[in-house]
Amino acid sequence: MDANEIRQKFLDFQVKNGHKVIQPAPLVLEGDPTTLFTGSGMQPLLPYLLGKEHPEGKRLCDAQPSMRLQDIEDVGDPRHTTVFEMLGNWSLGDYFKREQIENFFEFLTSVVGLDPSKIYVTCFIGNEKYGIPKDTEAAEIWQKVFEKAGVEAKIAEIGSAAEGDKRGIKPGERIFFYDDKENWWSRGGGIDSTPLGDPCGPDSEVFYDFGEDKQDVAKYGQAHPASDGARFMEIGNQVFMQYRRLEDGSFEELEKKNVDFGGGLERIAAAAIGSFDVFKISLMQPIIEKLEEISGKSYDNNTDEMRVIADHIRGAYLLASQGLVPSNKTQGYAMRRLVRRAILRALDLGISTNFLSEIVPIVAENYADLPDLILTHRESALDTLLKEENAFRKTLNRGLKELNKMAKSGKALSGFDIFKLQDTYGFPLELSVEECYREGIDLTPKYREEFDAALAEQRARSQTASKGMFKGGLEDHGEQTVKYHTATHLLLAALQKLISPNIVQKGSNTTSERTRFDFNCDHKLTPEEIKAVENQVNEWILADLPVVFDEYDKAYARDTLKAHGQFWDKYPDVLKVYTIGDFEKPISREVCGGPHVEHTGVIGHFKIVKEESSAAGIRRIKAILE
Ligand code: ALA
Repeated sequence: MDANEIRQKFLDFQVKNGHKVIQPAPLVLEGDPTTLFTGSGMQPLLPYLLGKEHPEGKRLCDAQPSMRLQDIEDVGDPRHTTVFEMLGNWSLGDYFKREQIENFFEFLTSVVGLDPSKIYVTCFIGNEKYGIPKDTEAAEIWQKVFEKAGVEAKIAEIGSAAEGDKRGIKPGERIFFYDDKENWWSRGGGIDSTPLGDPCGPDSEVFYDFGEDKQDVAKYGQAHPASDGARFMEIGNQVFMQYRRLEDGSFEELEKKNVDFGGGLERIAAAAIGSFDVFKISLMQPIIEKLEEISGKSYDNNTDEMRVIADHIRGAYLLASQGLVPSNKTQGYAMRRLVRRAILRALDLGISTNFLSEIVPIVAENYADLPDLILTHRESALDTLLKEENAFRKTLNRGLKELNKMAKSGKALSGFDIFKLQDTYGFPLELSVEECYREGIDLTPKYREEFDAALAEQRARSQTASKGMFKGGLEDHGEQTVKYHTATHLLLAALQKLISPNIVQKGSNTTSERTRFDFNCDHKLTPEEIKAVENQVNEWILADLPVVFDEYDKAYARDTLKAHGQFWDKYPDVLKVYTIGDFEKPISREVCGGPHVEHTGVIGHFKIVKEESSAAGIRRIKAILE
C-alpha cells in the first residue's frame, strides 16, 4: 500500500468509525505569534479541544500537511523531514482511551497490514510534582489488545530515555512507561513547559520495529522505543487530552476528555514497506531517483544530500502551492531558506545548473491527490520556485565571478574577502572555501577567524544601526543621511497613496540635513495635501515598520514584486529591492542600493518645509527631520 492509498484508507476507516472528514488548515498561519506554520493536526482544533462545540460534531479526522522547521538540522537522517502529513482523528469529549487504542491498532494491523509483533508502545509514568497519575489504564488496554492478537506484551518501567539507552529491552517486553519528556504532550513539550491555558495530557506512542540490526548501539546505546537509533520509529501518537494548564502553573482536569491522535503518513508508509528510511516511500523515491539521474551519483553514497534536497523541495512546493512566495520575512524567508539549502546541497552533488524544473513536477505529481482546496496555487507553484532558483543562481554566479576576480591579484584570499562575498553577493562561506580548493586559490591561514571577526563586527554594527550609529564600511553614509534616505522612500509612498498612483521619482538629493525630492505632478500641492502627506509619513514612522532588502532577478522584482524603479533598462540582471512594512502588503517597495534604517521608528519627526515647481510638470519637496 503506498502513501496516497494509506491516506485515503485512513480517512475511509475513520469515517466508518463515525468520524467526519474536516478540511485541513493552510500550512502558512496568519496572525499566530507563536508559530509560522501549522505543525500538527490539532493546532487548528485548539478551541474545540478546550470545549467549544465543533460544527461537524464530536468525531473528526483529516490529513494535515504540517511543517516543523525546528527539525531542519535533523533532516538527512532516515526519518526526519521538515514537511509531512499528519493523519489525525479526534474525539471531542466522546470516546476515550479504549476506543482510540483499539481503533489505531486495527488500522495498523487490519487496514495497513502491519505485523502486530512489530508494534511496540509507550505510556506515561506519572508525575508527582503535579499529582498526575501513572497511566496504567492505557497500559492495561494495550495488554488486552496484544493478547487478543496473540502477541506477548510484558510491561516495563523505563523512566527516562537515557535510562533506556543503558537498559534496553528484555525479551517479551512491549509496553513501556516513560517520563514526561517522552509521554506527555503539550505544544510546549514536557510537563514543565506546557503553555499556560493550553490543553495537554499523557500520551501513548506507537512504534514500529525495523529489526535489531538497525540499532547503532555504539552511537545510540541499547535499543528501546525512545532511542534515537533506527530500530524503532514512532508512527503515531495518541494524546489523551484530559488536562488544561492553569495560569498558576497547575493542571485541572477538563470536563470533557478528548483524544488527539496524530500519525505521520510518511512514517506509516515506511513501516508498510518495511523500510526504516522514509525516503524510500512512494512520495519520495521518485524524487531520489531523479536526483540520481541528474547527478549521475547514487543515493547510497550521497544519502544525506539527496534526503535534504528531496525534503526541502517538497516543503517549498507545498508552500508555493498554497500561494506563499519567497521573501525576506517570516514564512517567506523560511521558504527561501528551503529553496537555497536545496540548491546548495545540489551543488555538493555536482548539480550546478538549474534543476528544479525536473524535480518540482515530480513532487506535484506525488501530491496530485491533495484537493485544490488545500493546494490553491498549484498552477503557479512551479513558476514561483523557478524564479527563486534563477535569482539565487545569479547571485551564486556573481559571487563566483567576484571571487575569481579577487583571486587574480595573486594574493591569498582572507576571511574578510570571503565575508564580503557572503555579505554583498550572498555567496556562502562554504562555497568560497570549496571554490578555492578546487581552483587552487590560496586562503590565508586564519581565514576562518577573520571571517568570524567580520561577521561579529557586522552583527554589532547592525544592532547599533537601529540606534543610529552606522559605522564600519558605511562611513560615507552617516546616520542622519540614512534616516533621510528611508524617509524619502516613505515620502514617495505617501505621495503615491494620497496624491496619485502615477507619481514616480524624477530626482532626489539626500544630505544629512534635508531631503529634496522631485516628482511628476500636474498641480501645486494644496496646504491640506501637504499636511496629509506629512501626517502619513509620520504615521508610518511611528508604526516602527521593518525595512528589509534582498536581491532579486530583475524581471521578478519588476513583474512579481512590483518594485518601484526608474531605470529598468539600465538595471543589472540582479538587483537590490528595499521593502518597508509587511512583506506581502508593503507600504513601499523600491529598487535601491541602500543603505536604510532597519526600523522606521528611528527616523524622527518628518516635516515638509517647502513645495515648489522644479520644471514643467515636476514638483519639488524639501523636507527635514526634527
Ligand atoms: N498532537 C499530537 C502530536 O503532534 C498528536 O504528536
